[in-house]
Amino acid sequence: MSFKFRFQFLFLLSLGAILHENVVFGRRKYSRQDLVKLREEVRDMFNHAYSGYLKYAYPYDELRPLTCDGIDTWGSYSLTLIDALDTLAVMGNYTEFKRVVNIVTANANFDANINVSVFETNIRIVGGLLSAHLLSQRAGLELEPGWPCNGPLLRLAEDVAKRLLPAFATRSGMPYGTVNLRYGVPPGETTVTCTAGVGTYILEFATLSRLTGDPVYEEVAMHALRVMYDHRSSIGLFGNHIDVKTGKWIARDSGIGAGVDSFFEYLVKGSILLNRPELMAMFNEARKPIDKYLKKNNWYIWASMHKGQVTLPVFQSLEAYWPGVLTLIGDVETALRSMHNYNSVWKQYGFTPEFYNIPQGQAGTNRESYPLRPELVESAMYLYRATGDPFMLDIGKNILRSIQHSAKTPCGYATVRLCFYNVGLRWFIVNIDSNKEERNMIF
Ligand SMILES: *[C@@H]1O[C@H](CO)[C@@H](O)[C@H](O)[C@H]1NC(C)=O
Ligand SMILES: *[C@@H]1O[C@H](CO)[C@@H](O)[C@H](O)[C@H]1NC(C)=O
Repeated sequence: MSFKFRFQFLFLLSLGAILHENVVFGRRKYSRQDLVKLREEVRDMFNHAYSGYLKYAYPYDELRPLTCDGIDTWGSYSLTLIDALDTLAVMGNYTEFKRVVNIVTANANFDANINVSVFETNIRIVGGLLSAHLLSQRAGLELEPGWPCNGPLLRLAEDVAKRLLPAFATRSGMPYGTVNLRYGVPPGETTVTCTAGVGTYILEFATLSRLTGDPVYEEVAMHALRVMYDHRSSIGLFGNHIDVKTGKWIARDSGIGAGVDSFFEYLVKGSILLNRPELMAMFNEARKPIDKYLKKNNWYIWASMHKGQVTLPVFQSLEAYWPGVLTLIGDVETALRSMHNYNSVWKQYGFTPEFYNIPQGQAGTNRESYPLRPELVESAMYLYRATGDPFMLDIGKNILRSIQHSAKTPCGYATVRLCFYNVGLRWFIVNIDSNKEERNMIF
C-alpha cells in the first residue's frame, strides 16, 4: 500500500487495516464492537492531527505541536500535506483527498532553489505522490485516459524524481545525500552518506519506471543497491556510512537500526513488489552474518563490520521494523521472539526510547525520546495479519493508549521525552524543532 516507511501516521493505518476485511477477530478477547471502537478512535486521532496541521501549520512542512504553528523542515514543499494524502484515501475521506489533490496539482512547483535530502524527498514526496496517484481510482477521482500510466500526480512524482537523479551521477553510482531541486548537487557537498541513504529508492523509483516506461529510475536504484551490496565486508556485514566517491566505509559499526534500516526493508519489500528474486537473494545473504554476529537472545546489537565484535549493546526504537520484515518473508517464529523483547521495552516505559541498553535494561542516556515512530506497530500489524494472535492487538492498543495519554496536544501529537524526575519516571512532550520541553507536562 503506502511506500513510505517513515510516515508518522502509519500506526493509524495499522489498526485501520485490521478491520478492512473480515479477518478472524481476536479469540474471545476482542469483540467486533471493541475493534470498531478502536478503529474509530484511530480515525479521530488522524483527523485531530491532520486538521491541526491544516489549521495551524499549512503551507509549512510540519506542525510544531506545542507552539501550534508551522515550520519548514525537509524542503518547504508542504511536506505533511503530500505525506498525508494516501492516508486520507485509506481512511475513506475522499472529499478531502480530492480537495488536496486539486491543491497539490495546481500549486506544487518543485523547480525551487532549495537543498533537500534525497532520501527524505524520495520516501515522502515521490512516495506520497505515487501512492496518491495509485489510490486515485479508489477515491473516485476523474482519471486521465491511460491511467495509471498517465495522470497529474504521476507527472509531479516524475518531476521530483528527475530532480533527484543528479545525486546518482557519482563515480560509484551510489547517491549523494543532498541535492538542490533546481541546480543539482550543491558545490562542496559531502561525499559521505549513510547506508540507508544509498539503498532506499527501489520501491518508488521502480514504480515510477514501470508507470512511465522510462527505465532510468529503476536502473539507478538497482545499480546503487548492487554497488552497496558489493561493498559488504569479508564477513558479510555492512557499515553505517560510506564515501560514495571512493567506496570507503567511514562509519564501520554494523547493525540493523539507524543509518541502515530501510536498506534491508527495501530489499524485502522491493523483491515482493517487483518480483525481483535478486533482491531477496541479497537480503538472505545479508541476513546470515546478521544472525551470526548481531543476534543475541533475539535482540540485535551493534558490532564492528570487519571483525564482528560487539561495539554497542543497544536496541534502537527504529529496529522494531525487523520483525515485520521477517514476517513478510514467512519467518513468523523469529519475528515473534524479537517482538516480545521489543514489547517488553514498551511495557517498561510506556514507549520505546530511541536507545535501550540491553545489559543494563534501561533507556540510553540522552536517547530517551520517542518521536512517534511507527516501526513497532507496523511489525505488530504484519504479525497480526500472519497469526491472528490477539496479543498483537494488545500491542497496538497499548501504543494507541500511550500516544493518546502522553503525546496528544491541543493541535496535534508531539514527541515525548522520558525524564528522571524526583518522583520517578515521567514523559514530557517536546517540540520537534527545538527539543524544548517541560512546558506542558503530561504523564
Ligand atoms: C475529512 O477531512 C476533513 C478535513 O480535515 C474533515 O473536516 C472531515 O470531517 C473529514 N471527514 C471524515 C468523514 O472524516
Ligand atoms: C545549498 O548548499 C550550498 C552548499 O552548501 C550552499 O552554498 C547554498 O547556499 C545552499 N542553498 C540554499 C538555498 O540553501
